[in-house]
Amino acid sequence: MDALVGRGDDVWVLDSLANGRRENVAEGARLVELDIRDADALAGAFAEAKPETCFHLAAQADVRVSIAEPAFDAEVNVIGTANVLEAAREQETKVVFSSTGGAIYGECDGPADEDSPRLPLAPYGTSKLAGEEYLGTWSRLYGAGHVALRYGNVYGPRQDPHGEAGVVAIFFGRIANGGELHIFGDGRQTRDYVFVADVVAATLAAASGPEGVYNVGTGIETSVLELAEECKRASGVEAEIVFDPPRLGELSRSVLDPSRAEEALGWRPATSLAAGLEATWNFVRTAEGEGETGAN
Ligand SMILES: NC(=O)c1ccc[n+]([C@@H]2O[C@H](COP(=O)([O-])OP(=O)(O)OC[C@H]3O[C@@H](n4cnc5c(N)ncnc54)[C@H](O)[C@@H]3O)[C@@H](O)[C@H]2O)c1
Repeated sequence: MDALVGRGDDVWVLDSLANGRRENVAEGARLVELDIRDADALAGAFAEAKPETCFHLAAQADVRVSIAEPAFDAEVNVIGTANVLEAAREQETKVVFSSTGGAIYGECDGPADEDSPRLPLAPYGTSKLAGEEYLGTWSRLYGAGHVALRYGNVYGPRQDPHGEAGVVAIFFGRIANGGELHIFGDGRQTRDYVFVADVVAATLAAASGPEGVYNVGTGIETSVLELAEECKRASGVEAEIVFDPPRLGELSRSVLDPSRAEEALGWRPATSLAAGLEATWNFVRTAEGEGETGAN
């Protein structure tokens, strides 16, 4: 959104604020508060905005919620996505859908490419995969040219350090507050951490790229234990690591091969983990410092 406003686009943000925050809407962007499950409201907003491109990020994005409430997860991620596609069809809008690599491929035995088996371990992965399939169907049926991007583990400034997900922000939040870093299991489970600015660049590239499904990751695996050490290094703060029991259903390896995105979209990640962590730490340190007198 910031990148779009920055380059002078007319930007509309459609969000229920279920999880999003009004203060994160960039100055110059217009916020329409609506639920993507409400097809009429969505169609009305699209009819007014007549967007060239729709970056479809609205989602129920919490794996644990998807396990506890699979029907709700499907309502938002499947029905909601079908509603977005219909509203977009009426305005001939191209959709760039934010999907997920980790939750769709499941356990990886090396960098997963887009043709790797898709074995979601949680309803969230299944509902995002269904969303992708809907995009593919709309592209075949109407020649819509939609794109789905399978993100790795996105991290960076503005991620909530007090949430349940987003391990980088959580680690930095604990570090900023003098806490311990909790790791589930032995910490050897790996993830593909991709910096938010790189994800923005891929998402913008997809708007003018060929239809299809593309991984947006680095191809580099980092264990949670390595990540904890890197977070300590980036912050220059010593923090104790505590090992908690492993969580049921947690993947041991998750890593994405970004080659197809490089070939088709001309995109590749540009930010090293060290540089991305430094930028994220600077943000969390400032935000947590400002929050010290607040309600936290
Ligand atoms: N963060 C990651 O590492 C990651 C990885 C892979 C994919 N993704 C995808 O990227 C997108 C953004 O993820 P995020 O981590 O910023 O999640 P998030 O929960 O912070 O953002 C989701 C947004 O959707 C909005 N929303 C939720 N339900 C809605 C509804 N019914 N109608 C309208 N708006 C609704 C929320 O208010 C929020 O602003 C999601 O589609 C997610 O599946 C994220």
